[in-house]
Amino acid sequence: MERKRYVVIMAAGSGSRMGAQLPKQFLELDGKAILQKTMEVFLEACPGISVICVLPDEFIQYWKDYCLEHNFICPQILVKGGITRFHSVRNALERVPEGALVAVHDGVRPLVTPGKIRELFGLAENCPGVIPVVPCVDTMKVLQASGHDGLWEEIPGRTVDRSILFGAQTPQIFQSEIIKAAYGMAYDTSFTDDASVVSRYGKSLSYAMGERLNIKITTPEDLILARAVTAALGEGYSL
Ligand code: C5P
Repeated sequence: MERKRYVVIMAAGSGSRMGAQLPKQFLELDGKAILQKTMEVFLEACPGISVICVLPDEFIQYWKDYCLEHNFICPQILVKGGITRFHSVRNALERVPEGALVAVHDGVRPLVTPGKIRELFGLAENCPGVIPVVPCVDTMKVLQASGHDGLWEEIPGRTVDRSILFGAQTPQIFQSEIIKAAYGMAYDTSFTDDASVVSRYGKSLSYAMGERLNIKITTPEDLILARAVTAALGEGYSL
């Protein structure tokens, strides 16, 4: 029997790199808050999915008001964020039962497609966790600051083989009893995504092809790109 599906939408970051007053998950894309756009993709992909949204404490009322004012009807459990993303995910997982599948997704990745979400959920039925990745297209350099002039220099003898490098995206989808147990471990600064937590816990994960357009909107440039992509898709462009 198929496991029940949950999505934890991570939106408790302050968005300092965007340089805006409002955290980036609430900025507008295509006439809607980025967070609403993100939730809508999951609702389209998996009608009936249980949604848990992690927000900064001071924006919980803001988001409730937004949903009311914009007539955005999405039953969701609201959870208060933690000091780091790790602590935010841990808070949310308390609301997820064992025996389910849980997708953890960045609230600022609204361009993921319903088809990819369904594909990843399907794969996760048969393994501890599935992580979407995209191959690295740039040549990677291992550098260190060279002084106070804002430039870098190579760290001697350190090169990386691009052919084995991939960028990890979300949604990262896990069997819930496994990720809940992994998040029982003590926090470590190397935990930059959920896969790194579950791997450290000793579970071997599967990696599947992600989507190049599924960008994490982090800087003002990303927002320009996301608006261009949304406009192009709205004009009928497809991949
Ligand atoms: O900071 P970073 O870019 O890794 O954030 C990725 C996602 O995690 C964002 O959607 C952000 O809102 C969320 N986050 C969170 N709680 C934190 C920090 C980040 O939910 N304490």
